[in-house]
Amino acid sequence: MCGIIGYVGAKNATPILFDSLKRLEYRGYDSYGFATLDGEKIWVRKSKGKVSEAGFEKLPGSVGIAHTRWATHGKVTKANAHPHLDCTKRIAVIHNGIIENFEKLKSDLVKKGHVFRSDTDSEIIAHLIEDSIELGLPEAVMRTMKILKGRSAVLVIKNDFDGIVAARNGSPLILGVGRDEYFIASDVPAFLNRTKDVMYLDDGEMVVLERDRKPVFRNIGTGTRIEKRIIKIDWDAKHAEKGNYRHFMIKEIMEQKETIIRAINQNDGEIKKVAAAINKAYGVFLIGCGTAGNVCHTGEYIFSSIAKKHVNHVVASEFPGYRDFLTKKTLLIMVSQSGETADVLEAVRVAREKGAKVISLVNVRGSTLHRMSDFTFHINAGPEKAVASTKATTAQLAILYLLAYACAGRIEEGKRLLLEVASKINDMLNPRYDERIRALACSMQRKKNIYIIGRSLNYPMAMESAIKIMEVSYIHAHGFAGGEMKHGPIALIEKNTPCIVLTGDGSDQDTVNNAMEIKARGGYIIGVGPKKYEVFDFWLKTPDVGLASPMVNIIPVQLLAYHLGDLRGCDIDTPRNLAKSVTVK
Ligand code: G6P
Repeated sequence: MCGIIGYVGAKNATPILFDSLKRLEYRGYDSYGFATLDGEKIWVRKSKGKVSEAGFEKLPGSVGIAHTRWATHGKVTKANAHPHLDCTKRIAVIHNGIIENFEKLKSDLVKKGHVFRSDTDSEIIAHLIEDSIELGLPEAVMRTMKILKGRSAVLVIKNDFDGIVAARNGSPLILGVGRDEYFIASDVPAFLNRTKDVMYLDDGEMVVLERDRKPVFRNIGTGTRIEKRIIKIDWDAKHAEKGNYRHFMIKEIMEQKETIIRAINQNDGEIKKVAAAINKAYGVFLIGCGTAGNVCHTGEYIFSSIAKKHVNHVVASEFPGYRDFLTKKTLLIMVSQSGETADVLEAVRVAREKGAKVISLVNVRGSTLHRMSDFTFHINAGPEKAVASTKATTAQLAILYLLAYACAGRIEEGKRLLLEVASKINDMLNPRYDERIRALACSMQRKKNIYIIGRSLNYPMAMESAIKIMEVSYIHAHGFAGGEMKHGPIALIEKNTPCIVLTGDGSDQDTVNNAMEIKARGGYIIGVGPKKYEVFDFWLKTPDVGLASPMVNIIPVQLLAYHLGDLRGCDIDTPRNLAKSVTVK
């Protein structure tokens, strides 16, 4: 969840680390810190809150590490912010991940006389390295990594070592190779403005970065050297910038004018091959978390209505409970924007134990999920920086539609539909539409609760709508299957309670009946769909695209969530308590 960055080069490290840290802030943003190396002195600065240059002097040194935190163990305090030092203050460590055996390790270290200055699990890494430092820094890091259980990406500097030792086991680390300089970070956008040449570390690997020397990659378990090649990233650095937009979220919503076309620009042969594998498999699971989990849930309806194929959607954190149903014939379709979500990776590990096959839909090339999968579709949405996922959602849905049509042997029909959807979304995202939604948001901004209903394909989208509204505006929102309202939730409806009703998927009549039941109890009905029904108090028109209705219905809700958040003065791109990439279980 945290963001980490290291620099080894000829320039002063602090401004570079600062810049990168800001680009990584979406991964966690409750506190941050730096350590640089100047001659034989380590300089450390930490602060609570978001990355800010205010009151922060430039530290000396052209080797440094920096961290932006999303707290797991230990409260949000300056002491708990990284880097952490060993007892002698000669070793500085930053860490992304979670150490499962930290209590035992910590009590052993305390018994040996180590003094701890924080409540974090991460600090034990500095003390473990200190314990075996006579082996030399790389060996001591290697030994420490073997002891840690859980997930970790670690960057370490030492007062008399002119570089960084980095290691990963479970959390991402990518090396950026510049001219006479190295960057090592949790994610590519951290250094994309400086280099596009990257080398990926796999789990169980480490790299020693010394000034003026080639990077040396080694296997943590065996110590053997590993040869790696440089891969060129094709993302444009400007795509990871806000441009003229006030927030990444609105920029990314607007980018849906193009991203769907990019998503469906896949190789037909590969789509057909994967579709054949889906048709042949015995037990197909669609798995993801958060918004991607809602995409998977929609996928269950997509495959059922288009391919007449039963696939099971499961949220990744619950998937281990299904392990007894897995065989070599099982096929997993993993959906993850980042490709780094811990529960998603754990689901793949569980499936692999049973010999199941894994297909993935990811946005981040080279991510752990991409590298663990038998086959990957890149959704090609470009960097998604706002914590609330928008453009990745519609791109993921587009590929699921394409696959379902391919399973039914009607790939061309699927492509035609998706091209129509893309062009209609392009028309929808115009200033007038946006203004109308802002006006609606103005009238709703002080509401305490918002409910959303949908049936069939729009039922998971009702839940996705609730996630969007909650995370961006902090208004309590809840999505239900339309038919479930009268089994409990309808008790929550009071005079003028806003209720968003998603229509246009073929189950309108029943959904509209449910809307009437809500209205009869005083609810204020905001209809979303191609047809204006009398029950609607407010209508957000979306184009009629038949079974692809979830793709167009989610657009006005994304805009509504954005405007509600903006009007309420919320931190739209980095909402409180959340992180973009959830790398802990
Ligand atoms: C976090 C993000 C969500 C995202 C979810 C799954 O909760 O805030 O936007 O949907 O993780 O992430 P993934 O990268 O696996 O799609």
